[in-house]
Parts: sequence; C-alpha cells; structure tokens
Amino acid sequence: MSLYTTSLFVHILGSFTFFSGIILEWGGLTQLKKATRSENVLLTLRWFRPLRTMQPTSGAAIILSGLYMSYAKWGFQAWIVVSLLTVLGLAATGRSVTGRRLARIGQTASKDTGEISEGLRKLLNDPVLYVSHNIRIGLVLAIIALMVFKPGPTGVALWMAGALLIALILRATTRR
Ligand code: HEM
Repeated sequence: MSLYTTSLFVHILGSFTFFSGIILEWGGLTQLKKATRSENVLLTLRWFRPLRTMQPTSGAAIILSGLYMSYAKWGFQAWIVVSLLTVLGLAATGRSVTGRRLARIGQTASKDTGEISEGLRKLLNDPVLYVSHNIRIGLVLAIIALMVFKPGPTGVALWMAGALLIALILRATTRR
C-alpha cells in the first residue's frame, strides 16, 4: 500500500461523500418544493445540516489527495486543472448561492406558522436553487468522466459541454 494508492482511496471516499451530499440536497429540495406548512419547511431544512461538514471535508479530501496524485504521477494536465477549478467553483457557489438562499428560507419559515405565506412560497420556488443544483450534478458527473477517461483538451471541452446538457435534461425532466 503506497502513499499514492492511499491517496486514491481517500480521493474516491471523498468523491462518494461529495456525491452523497448532492443526493441529500436533491431530496431536501424536492421536499421543500412540496411543503405546505412552515413547520414542514423547518423540518426539511434539517436534511441540509450534514452538508455543512460533509461538503468542506470531502472537498478538502478530494483536492488534497488529487493534488498529491497529480504531482506524483500525472502533472497538471487539462482534465486535472479543469476539475480543480470546477471543484473550487462548486465549493464557492454552494455557500453563496444555495447556502444563502436556504438561510433566508429558514429565517422566514421560523417567523411564519401554519400555511406557507406568499413570501415564503416565492423563496421556495426560487429557480436559482434548482438550476444551480442541476448544474452541480452535471458538473460532478462530467468530472467523474474526466477522472476515468483522462482526455486531452478537446475531450475536456466536450465533457464540460456534456455537463451543461445533463443539467438542461435534469431541469426539463424534474421541473414541476
Ligand atoms: C468532485 C470532484 C472529483 C471527483 C468526483 C473525482 C473522482 C475521481 C475518481 C472516481 C477517480 C478514479 C478514476 C480511476 O481510477 O480510473 C479519480 C482519479 C483521479 N483524480 Fe479525481 N475526482 C475529483 C476531483 C479531482 C481534482 C480536483 C483533482 C486534482 C486536483 C483530481 C485528481 C485526480 C487524479 C490525478 C486521479 C488519477 C488517479 C489514477 O488514476 O491513478 N480529482 N478521481
């Protein structure tokens, strides 16, 4: 068992955890859309709590192990650089786009009781929440393809375009 194989193990464990977080978020967003009372909203928001530790921990594990493997064996090829930038982008937008909106939903729901108010419904139906989640799924699937196929620059561009296509298909098929 070398440092390299240990890093690959940590890397794959991190990517499983990262993807589980995305699935958890999917479940939470689906429930939020269906909620009819503020109490349901507050209860559903608990689904997102584990993400506060899951996402940064798995993100750090993926990046640190990935950087080591790149340094040790692959060099900084296009598929690695694009994946690294994408993961950093995902980490930044997860907090600023989704985290901020969920916090606003939580604040509004804790002031309301009973039937969901018009203001809260508007926050729950914010398309940015759902579109950004669809884009994240597309990007993570494309990164997994980059990791496995390790393509050249053209292949990287095609897989990233594929990510947007996946996001569009998800958006079209999961819209209410
Ligand atoms: C969400 C983001 C990521 C996921 C889900 C992911 C997932 C994976 C998976 C499943 C493998 C194994 C592929 C195989 O053995 O055929 C792998 C390999 C690899 N990953 Fe990532 N990865 C991600 C991000 C990154 C980043 C940001 C870097 C660089 C900083 C990176 C660097 C590498 C390298 C160098 C390998 C090659 C290991 C080998 O085949 O020996 N990964 N990744």
